[in-house]
Amino acid sequence: MCGIVAYIGTKPAKDLLLEGLKRLEYRGYDSAGIAIINGGLKVARTIGRVAGLEALVENDADFDGSIGIAHTRWATHGEPSERNAHPHSDDLKQGYGIRVVHNGIIENYATLKQYLQEKGHSFTSDTDTEVLAHLIGELYDGNLETAVQSALREVTGAYAIAVICEKEPDVLVVARKGSPLIVGVGQDEYVVASDSSAIVAHTTQAFLLDNETVARLTRDSFRTTTVDNVELTPEIKELEYSLEQIELGDFEHFMLKEIHEQPNTLRTCMQGRIDAAGSKIVLGGLADHSDELTQIQRVLLLGQGTALHAAMIGEYLFEGLAGVPTEVEFASEFRYRNPIVEERTVAIAVSQSGETADTLAAVQEAKRRGAITLGAVNVVGSSIARETDAGVYLRVGPEIGVASTKAFIGQVAVLTMLAAYIGRRHHLGRDEMSDLMYAFEEIPSHIETILAQSEHIHKVTKGVVNRDNWLFLGRGTNYPVALEGALKLKEISYIHAEGMPAAEMKHGPIALIDKGMPVVVVATKGSQYEKVIGNMEEVRSRGGHVIAIATEGDENIHKHCNDAIFVPDVPEPLQPLVTVVPLQLIAYHAAVLRGKDVDKPRNLAKSVTVE
Ligand code: F6R
Repeated sequence: MCGIVAYIGTKPAKDLLLEGLKRLEYRGYDSAGIAIINGGLKVARTIGRVAGLEALVENDADFDGSIGIAHTRWATHGEPSERNAHPHSDDLKQGYGIRVVHNGIIENYATLKQYLQEKGHSFTSDTDTEVLAHLIGELYDGNLETAVQSALREVTGAYAIAVICEKEPDVLVVARKGSPLIVGVGQDEYVVASDSSAIVAHTTQAFLLDNETVARLTRDSFRTTTVDNVELTPEIKELEYSLEQIELGDFEHFMLKEIHEQPNTLRTCMQGRIDAAGSKIVLGGLADHSDELTQIQRVLLLGQGTALHAAMIGEYLFEGLAGVPTEVEFASEFRYRNPIVEERTVAIAVSQSGETADTLAAVQEAKRRGAITLGAVNVVGSSIARETDAGVYLRVGPEIGVASTKAFIGQVAVLTMLAAYIGRRHHLGRDEMSDLMYAFEEIPSHIETILAQSEHIHKVTKGVVNRDNWLFLGRGTNYPVALEGALKLKEISYIHAEGMPAAEMKHGPIALIDKGMPVVVVATKGSQYEKVIGNMEEVRSRGGHVIAIATEGDENIHKHCNDAIFVPDVPEPLQPLVTVVPLQLIAYHAAVLRGKDVDKPRNLAKSVTVE
């Protein structure tokens, strides 16, 4: 959500910043801007994509300096427009030439704005960021680092910022609280960005800026402090991402690439963690909490969006495999109720980015109320990973497509392992565990079988792609899969879709069904198969067009549906790992057939770092 990149070094900043913005564009893409010091301060801003910004500055020698900041925006305060685009400036009348790019929300911006207006400041945008820029200018006394520290002491909310000042052309100041920021350390240069994808092409040495920390960077030195100017020593580490992981390769879209990566990312996720013969799950991240986890009496799963759907599957798994009472909650709702967290509760935050503001706040709340907290997170060192007592990383590599796919598979896989890990310490028998783990190890090759049917899935999708309202139905662990199928379809193709438990349809939504309405039903073999067939008949008898996700070899299914997509036969607890794949492909093909921008759907951005 908003991408920041900043550079100080010896190379042309413009090229590096634009390239970084393109890599961060999945975080927001309604407007973009750049500021470079080259003798004086040069600024360009534009509504729309980074390509538009590039066209503005690529042949302009004024932008040839070697220090600068840049931003790609996902609007929070103020509509997408050039005047609301970053970088924002201090009061132009004062003329210190300060420019700020920001990701996050300054919650007390209205109070600060009023204070500054009373001091004579006038504002040119509707953003909270401009208020911060003015505040830094107001407090500027010849030292940018000190002015930023002082301003941040007055601010409540979340921020990752990068700041330059025309009067100090060899200094870049960056800071963060809540929103992520990484400092890449090169030879006489620093590249700072919201995530490592904008850094790895230049250096693999980096440090994560700690919460409420400020860094002052010159070409050959850095200093990090708290906002109260207490000096800190960050740990420089090797970045885990490779350039290849963040390039499209032969694929047309990141979403398609990531769908196809799923067999291998799942293998990596399981690697070294499953011992099927020994009926054991080895989760190194939990080693220090093994005894506590043996004692737990309740599981609380927290997440948003796709991660929430994975968590909902987790609820079935924890109850089914571990026999532990489990609740799943929208993280955003959890923290604003009065949630009762009983003794021996483990709260698990499920998140790809590890930065989702609602999920972070919810897990903090659960911790405050006495829960042991675990993370099922993808991004190493992210806020949720650092906030939780322990955790299990998804290990699916960087997810660039805004619509989450391989992270979902990783989340479900980690929750399956966690449920089995805790299950073995409760009721799960040795043989049952062993059988499940052998079947689990086969899932990556089953996903490969499904991916090989992409052309058939394309054809099925094409048959109904002109319809504007769809339903997705499932029961048991496949109910959250239905929700996920509907979410994928709406977010990238803008088709209205609802997911629900198959039985719920007749309690109202059945009124929507008319001739040809697409209804995707997860109808795999399992304990509720016959009931799902009954639900399909209810749809068919009203003229609906049923697309069944069925178990390989189930020829009977053809009598009850218009189209069938087959998935390999796997034990019920593992079915979501295969049944979701055709739904991802249906959404992908529908979006492409409708001519939509699959990797940059309208109004969305990856990593929602505001509440
Ligand atoms: C949907 C999607 C979102 C995220 C949600 C949580 O495709 O990507 O619904 O799942 O914003 O994000 P994370 O997993 O980063 O916490």
